[in-house]
Amino acid sequence: MEVVIGGVPTLTQVAAGAVERLLRSRPETVLGLATGSSPLAVYDELVRRHTETGLSFARARAFLLDEYVGLPADHPQRYRTVIEREIASRVDFAPGAVQGPDGTAKDLAAACREYEATIADAGGVDLQILGIGTDGHIAFNEPGSSLASRTRIKTLTEQTRADNARFFGGDVAAVPRHVLTQGLATIMAARHLVLLATGRRKAEAVHQMVEGAVSALWPASVLQMHPHVTVLLDDAAAGRLQLADHYRQTWQHKPDWQQV
Ligand code: F6R
Repeated sequence: MEVVIGGVPTLTQVAAGAVERLLRSRPETVLGLATGSSPLAVYDELVRRHTETGLSFARARAFLLDEYVGLPADHPQRYRTVIEREIASRVDFAPGAVQGPDGTAKDLAAACREYEATIADAGGVDLQILGIGTDGHIAFNEPGSSLASRTRIKTLTEQTRADNARFFGGDVAAVPRHVLTQGLATIMAARHLVLLATGRRKAEAVHQMVEGAVSALWPASVLQMHPHVTVLLDDAAAGRLQLADHYRQTWQHKPDWQQV
């Protein structure tokens, strides 16, 4: 794991830079997109690069990590709608190039299997953007998730529902209980994982992810087993890291030729 600790502008440039390098070298790149607050600055920066420097997504594809079960197609918090609003409609993805699990499907288990097959048919995800929950979830793999899990239905913890109530006018009861989510093994199959976390409320989950034991209790800790992970943190999210000084020094002295 490479841990980068810096201000939000730096973290944003590092993440957007990794996406841009991929798109420029291989326009048919497959991206993995997270929803939530953490990646928003990166999406804004990618839109800026698209508008001002011609960065194109026209031949790329993208897959969402997760989706609420039962939110209708026109619900503003449906993740497929959120991604459309935050990035997809603001760049030049081809029609149908951005897909997510179908939380309105009659047969949810079949929708999950189909989603896995669609990702595999696309050749797998080249770069996956991730956030992390205060309880250590990635995508919606809550504590207790199998480290070998694939896309499936999950039940959100009350902590996550409370955390996400801000997107539902502060009303916890309006946050769906059930979600479809890529599994931990699905995420682990992506070739490069770029995780963003900011704020003190993420500090314990970040510590457990980077420095704790690999355990289903802190699902993000499975990323320790991935060969190419970039963890982008502000000072507050890095606040409980035991080796923070070492990560800072490593980044400061990173050879110019070495990219994230
Ligand atoms: C969203 C997702 C979640 C979020 C996490 C952090 O697609 O997969 O794991 O990344 O809940 O959310 P924010 O960024 O809003 O703090």
